[in-house]
Amino acid sequence: MSDWWKMACVYQIYPRSFMDSDGDGIGDIQGIIQKLDYLKTLGIDIIWLSPIYDSPNDDNGYDIRNYYKIMQEFGTMEDFNYLLNEIHKRGLKLMMDLVVNHTSDEHEWFQKYEDFYYWREKPNNWKSVFSGPAWEYDEERRQYYLHIFSKKQPDLNWENPKLRQSVYEMMRWWLDKGVDGFRMDVINFISKDPALPDGPDGDGSPYFMNGPRIHEFLREMNQEVLSNYDCITVGEMPGASPEDAKTYTNPENRELNMIFTFEHMDLDGGPNGKWDLKKLNLVDLKENLEKWQHALHQVGWNSLYWNNHDQPRIVSRFGDDGDYRVESAKMLATCLHMMQGTPYIYQGEEIGMTNVAFKSLEKYQDIETLNMYKEKIAEGWSHDQIMKAIHTKGRDNARTPMQWSNEENGGFTTGDPWIDVNPNYEKINANEALQDSNSIFYYYQSLIDLRKRYNIITKGDFKLIHREHPDVFAYERSSEGEKLVVYCNFSENVHTFALPDGEILIHNYDQLESCEQLNLRPWEAVVFYQT
Ligand code: NOJ
Repeated sequence: MSDWWKMACVYQIYPRSFMDSDGDGIGDIQGIIQKLDYLKTLGIDIIWLSPIYDSPNDDNGYDIRNYYKIMQEFGTMEDFNYLLNEIHKRGLKLMMDLVVNHTSDEHEWFQKYEDFYYWREKPNNWKSVFSGPAWEYDEERRQYYLHIFSKKQPDLNWENPKLRQSVYEMMRWWLDKGVDGFRMDVINFISKDPALPDGPDGDGSPYFMNGPRIHEFLREMNQEVLSNYDCITVGEMPGASPEDAKTYTNPENRELNMIFTFEHMDLDGGPNGKWDLKKLNLVDLKENLEKWQHALHQVGWNSLYWNNHDQPRIVSRFGDDGDYRVESAKMLATCLHMMQGTPYIYQGEEIGMTNVAFKSLEKYQDIETLNMYKEKIAEGWSHDQIMKAIHTKGRDNARTPMQWSNEENGGFTTGDPWIDVNPNYEKINANEALQDSNSIFYYYQSLIDLRKRYNIITKGDFKLIHREHPDVFAYERSSEGEKLVVYCNFSENVHTFALPDGEILIHNYDQLESCEQLNLRPWEAVVFYQT
């Protein structure tokens, strides 16, 4: 099997918020089809589609009621077949979201097969990721079931071989249909310590993240399903260390192609987690990404991402979404895309979409946000303090509709959108970007194109330079006599360095400020190529 995915670039679609074709305010499959040419112009290779399966939408499709059916709001299986065909016609590939740590409580398995889930007389002390206890009492059965996420997302019991075979059968069904792979939702949570012991302060993660049989399960899945197809797999793995990642992605182990790691997304959270806001220390970010670049080089493979449907918008987070929005969005893209790994672009990132700050809590839709609000109020946080945390970190920042044009609702829908559009759509939208040759969109297009033309981006090793510099992220990549030197200014401050040799491969300003030294202007990014 080839590793074509190492040179590929992935684009993530969150279907609910991408494009609405029928005016019901919810994105859908026909809407995606309308925009495939846009994605082709951008130059991406693979589409990762967040869940489109039948679901009661407690967690926007991450709670699946039927793996073999399309969510009604999104369309029909016929629409899906048509989409797949249109994707393949354009030479693109489709990666589905595979959510098999849990199902919806409305899945027939939950109704019929007790031993597919975790039922206990007595709950342990684990807390749910979405606030409150991770166990829910069922009056009928007079037992508690485990749900690491919402109470409508009961955890599947992977200890049961029948459950595993049912999952593999379903995976084969989709692969036989022609899909090209899977992004696997919290896949490193599927093996739990069978004793389900209490965790420190209710934190069960030591007993369900990277659990005792995880490698065995993934190898079995690989043997039973994945090895029979030329497909791409990426495991979403919160709490995986670089050592874990090596095991998961070393091809010799026959588990997964690559993983999503989270450490770099946790650096602006304090000791009490993501809502405990902390300013990013750039040195931490550099050291963290360096650690991952080194750990997986020539051993396994990583994904490169700043954004997805669970993260705030990167230009608001690590960049400047005001005066330097365009420069900083391009700088962040440069910093990420010149590293080793497979880059992922989340819808709207390519036009520099920003966070949103709805004034009232009623405007928010995300279950994590709404549950957290209640919990924090009970803990004594003030309303304003919580709203600030939501504006900074809430998942709905990523979920406001894609901004296509300056028409009403950003051209996303002719109806009432299920979540409000970011009011800045009049300025920030895809139409605008396509008409401006200097736009963030075309800059991403160039970055994707460079990856195809310069093997060093895929293969080269990684060396961090100016390690202690508080504002500038600089590194070198080397491979067989070639070298890339990357300078990224994560600030408005001007910084001066010796001018590297070589031709400029990509640059987010028109030209260098000086031909004698490298004077980095606000949010400037420049890449030199030496042979
Ligand atoms: C991770 C997904 O990315 C997130 O959106 C979801 O809420 C949880 N897993 C539960 O499925």
